[in-house]
Parts: sequence; structure tokens; C-alpha cells
Amino acid sequence: MNAAIPATRATRFGAPLRWLHWIMALAIFGAWALVYSKGLFGKGSAGRDFLTHAHILAGLTVLALLPLRILARVGSPQPPIVPAPGWLAAQSAKWVHVLLYAGMLATPVLGILFVQAAGKEIAYFGYTMPTWIGTNKALSHNLKEVHETLGLAMLYLVAAHAGVAILHHTFQHDNTLRRMM
Ligand code: HEM
Ligand code: HEM
Repeated sequence: MNAAIPATRATRFGAPLRWLHWIMALAIFGAWALVYSKGLFGKGSAGRDFLTHAHILAGLTVLALLPLRILARVGSPQPPIVPAPGWLAAQSAKWVHVLLYAGMLATPVLGILFVQAAGKEIAYFGYTMPTWIGTNKALSHNLKEVHETLGLAMLYLVAAHAGVAILHHTFQHDNTLRRMM
């Protein structure tokens, strides 16, 4: 927490955290939209390859921004929700945020591992990533399953997270959402 800004006076999260929250949300929604659109193209087609590559770029962007997000989070004031939610709601929000951070780390890392274990190189805007794991097709298959399951679990978690924020704004008329705008 930023010692210069008392938590009780701040009405919004710090600008870096708010920007990173929405930019990374966009990258994550992009990653889902791209990978779930691949069914529009046949296996081995250029369209499908393009969507997979674009999915990888969006996912790597999330991973690249994550350290900045953690710094921004540590440096941001934590404005209170007014009126204050109950203990259970506050605890649930806290643990959902922890799970979302875990998902933003584990999902792209598993993506990198399963693609490299399949023996493929990963390039990020011209930069070729160092190899983290040698070729192992069977392991790649298993890591891919975990990556896809985690990616889907994140989708449900984000839907709940965003839904609750919108419900707070619409029906409880508190400042939950405004703190992030
Ligand atoms: C936050 C980041 C990410 C999310 C939320 C995510 C999510 C997903 C999901 C849900 C699927 C399954 C799609 C389906 O069932 O058809 C998937 C597939 C895939 N992901 Fe990711 N992913 C992320 C990052 C990455 C990264 C960093 C890489 C590689 C470096 C990657 C590579 C792939 C590939 C190659 C597929 C399979 C595409 C296919 O079956 O043709 N993903 N991802
Ligand atoms: C339409 C989509 C979204 C909406 C409306 C939304 C809304 C919000 C709001 C209102 C907060 C502050 C809530 C509080 O303090 O209790 C928040 C915080 C947070 N959101 Fe979202 N969010 C969305 C998408 C996402 C996505 C895609 C992720 C990441 C997977 C995410 C991760 C987080 C995290 C980790 C926090 C805690 C504050 C931080 O460290 O950044 N959100 N969100």
C-alpha cells in the first residue's frame, strides 16, 4: 500500500492498477475469443494457425504484464467499499482475486510448457523465447489438457467476478465498480 495516500481517503485504485486491470482483461477476453473461434476454420488451415498464434500473443501479453500488475497492486491505495460489505463477501472477493492472479500466472506458463514440449518454438513480436522444457509429446498432451481446463475455469471465475461487480453497482449502488474505473 502507498504510505503517502491513506486508504481511507482514496476513492479509486491507483491509475496504473486500473489501466493494467482493464488492459489485461482485454488481452484475456481476446485470448478466449481467438482460441474459441478456431473452430470456424479447418485443421491445418492458415486461418486456424493465425488464430492460434494470435491467442499465444494475447496470452504472453498477460504474462508479460503480470509483474507490473503485482507492483501496481502493492503500490496502489486500497479504497474501501462504501457501504462496507459483510465479512463473507469481503473474504470471497479476496480469495477470488487470489485465484485470478494464480490463473493469470499458471495458464500462460502451462501454455508455454505444452507448446515447447510439443517441440515448437514460441516467438513474441520477433523475440524467440528460451526453451524451458525439452520435447516430450506425452507430457505436452497432458499439459495441454491442464492448460485448457484452467483457461475454462478462469472463464467461469471471471464471469462470476464481473457479474458480482455489476450486481453491486446496479442493485447495491455501492462504489465497488467505480473504484476500478
Ligand atoms: C491468460 C492466458 C491464456 C488463457 C486464458 C488461455 C486459454 C485457453 C483455452 C481456454 C484454450 C482451450 C480452447 C479450446 O478448448 O478449444 C486454450 C488453448 C490453447 N492455448 Fe491458451 N490460454 C492462455 C495463454 C496461452 C499461451 C501463453 C500459450 C502459448 C504460449 C497458449 C497456447 C494455446 C494453444 C496452442 C492452444 C490450443 C489451440 C488448439 O487446440 O489448436 N495459451 N487456451
Ligand atoms: C468485465 C470484466 C471485469 C469487470 C467488470 C471487473 C471488475 C472489477 C472490480 C469492480 C474490481 C474491484 C473489486 C473489489 O475490490 O472487490 C476488480 C478487481 C480485480 N479484478 Fe476485475 N473485472 C473484470 C475482469 C477481470 C479479469 C478478466 C481479471 C483477470 C483474470 C480480473 C482480475 C481482477 C483482480 C485480480 C482484481 C483485484 C484488484 C487487482 O489486484 O487488480 N478482472 N475487478
